[in-house]
Amino acid sequence: MDTNDTLSVKIIKDNLTTSFVGQELELLPVIHSTNQYLKEIDTKELCNGFTVIADEQTSGRGRRGRAFLSSKNQGIYVSILLKLEREYQDTQLMTICAAVAVSKAIEKTCGIRADIKWVNDIFCNGKKICGILTEAIISGETQEISSVIVGIGINTGNVPVEIKDIATSILEETGEQGVRNQLTAEVLNELEEVFLDYTKYNKKQDIIEYYSSRLFITGRKVLLPDIAHDHFATVLGISNDGALIVRDDNGNVQHITTGEIRLV
Ligand code: BTN
Repeated sequence: MDTNDTLSVKIIKDNLTTSFVGQELELLPVIHSTNQYLKEIDTKELCNGFTVIADEQTSGRGRRGRAFLSSKNQGIYVSILLKLEREYQDTQLMTICAAVAVSKAIEKTCGIRADIKWVNDIFCNGKKICGILTEAIISGETQEISSVIVGIGINTGNVPVEIKDIATSILEETGEQGVRNQLTAEVLNELEEVFLDYTKYNKKQDIIEYYSSRLFITGRKVLLPDIAHDHFATVLGISNDGALIVRDDNGNVQHITTGEIRLV
């Protein structure tokens, strides 16, 4: 492990086994948001798998307009551009792929279990360690999704006190701090592998099975605040399309495709 934990393009690239993801890699000391940065560039000019990583984000963005705390040197803040063929426009499944890739990368690099909370939060020992924000880019010409930006934020260092009850980090879980280069490379390696499994090798079922094996909320009672504030349900699993299958308190089975769930 790199003991000083300084991000290095050379070390990340030396650990890559990919053919396109991360092969073009830009490292920025500070940026508003790596996702926003990619959205502001004409992505037609960028190659498939273009990756930007920052030491700090001043306006890190989470899902549903929330902020994602991104303090200097305390995490991996990375965004990857993936160009999509017409038949793979399902951003829900791209999100599932990203969660599987990050879970595998954390387990392989850090030797800790990385569970998944639908749809794409990664949890260790009941606390959030990583959030993923997948954003679609619509082509002006075809009005179809031409690519997605997969933004991944992994807490690796100190967790801010205000979120210590609900968030954790690689440092908190393992006592190790020098993982950022290796873990970044492994995330990119796994992301390419899972992405190709989905888009090229027809292994969607394997991806869904892995996801299900890490979905720690199966069998648990959850709240579905987007449907109704007092709407409880029990999680049954996920469907082949990445929808969350729940049984509500009236016994009805529902497939949830958008929104959030809250653990109770
Ligand atoms: C969430 O927890 O709701 C998703 C958080 C996603 C954070 C990552 S950090 C890199 C990329 N840039 C952003 O502004 N957000 C994503």
